[in-house]
Amino acid sequence: MYSEKVMDHFQNPRNVGELEDPSGVGTVGNAKCGDIMRMYLDIDEQGVIQKATFKTFGCGAAVATSSMATELVKGKTVEEALEVTNRAVKEALDGLPPVKVHCSLLAEEAIHAALWDYAQKAGITIPGLQPPVEDIEELEPEEE
Ligand code: FES
Repeated sequence: MYSEKVMDHFQNPRNVGELEDPSGVGTVGNAKCGDIMRMYLDIDEQGVIQKATFKTFGCGAAVATSSMATELVKGKTVEEALEVTNRAVKEALDGLPPVKVHCSLLAEEAIHAALWDYAQKAGITIPGLQPPVEDIEELEPEEE
């Protein structure tokens, strides 16, 4: 049912925890399954993501997708991080069962929410970044 990569990131999640004094923090949830995800970003003066960590009160796929999402955004500029869509996370994990695709959307949206928080604090606009939603049920996952 789950790929080896999903199982690996579930059993050995990368970048778990909080960041002290983060550049941006974002929290999103999914009212349907009740899962919640919080992302922390440490962004340097050049707008490059130096650290990305997460905490989740969520399912195994939520753990694996947020672990992969933090790995994917690390070292990227804030603009490049916008390209880490739920589809990119899903592909990097060699796929997810259809019923778990929304978990990857939770990871994508938590990154967006953290980037939004960063932009607000820094007084900048990140082109293409939409205001975050609290409940991802309002969104449709990007499917192939
Ligand atoms: Fe809701 Fe996975 S079942 S995030």
